Amino acid sequence: MMTGFIFDLDGVLTDTAQLHFEAWQALGEKLGISIDQTFNEQLKGISRMDSLEKILKRGGQASDFTSEEKEQLAAEKNAHYVRLLEQLSPADLLPGVQDFLKAASAEKIPCSLASASKNAPIILEKLAIAHFFDAVVDPTTLTKGKPDPEIFLKAAEALGFEVHEVIGFEDAQAGIDGLKAAGIFAVGIDPRDKLKDVDRLVGSFEELSVDALVEELDQ
Ligand code: BG6
Ligand code: MG
Repeated sequence: MMTGFIFDLDGVLTDTAQLHFEAWQALGEKLGISIDQTFNEQLKGISRMDSLEKILKRGGQASDFTSEEKEQLAAEKNAHYVRLLEQLSPADLLPGVQDFLKAASAEKIPCSLASASKNAPIILEKLAIAHFFDAVVDPTTLTKGKPDPEIFLKAAEALGFEVHEVIGFEDAQAGIDGLKAAGIFAVGIDPRDKLKDVDRLVGSFEELSVDALVEELDQ
């Protein structure tokens, strides 16, 4: 059977989650809303505006801003985040990612990216891995974000595969839930062992072999 791979980006291929955290924290400070690591977990995988809404709700400020003001706050956070991205290089790929992508490419396994991030194309370029991807789902075309399965269904369709023919890699519970809702085999990349409802749980790509995984899907 032919197999395709669907990758999330932030927290799976590189640890930009930390940079998102820094940028949200700075905005939170300005608004008087504290954002700690535990709360930050809830922001993983979800869109920029959904993250802002969660933050404002946490600070009891959900109805304090017009939608234009919210756009402005989100743009401010993004400008900060994009500045932080300038330092990103191939050295920031998470352990095992480079070898795994190379092995997938050697096996001619088509790969697509299913990230909520509008900054994904520039991040792939900075990491020097854009050439490994046959498709990148444009998050602006989505009607619903993760945990809705839409992004993963589009990622499978972009490769020309049925959901039972692809394997998805995710670090966030919203992403795992979306993969499972789509009917896709879900691999959790999670050094802290927190993810639930995964088909396979590993700490990093170093623990995975392309061949063994494809065999596992076939069974
Ligand atoms: C996801 C991240 O990949 O992208 C979220 O896990 C982030 O934390 C989301 O909010 C949107 O990213 P961006 O770059 O469009 O603000
Ligand atoms: Mg992620």
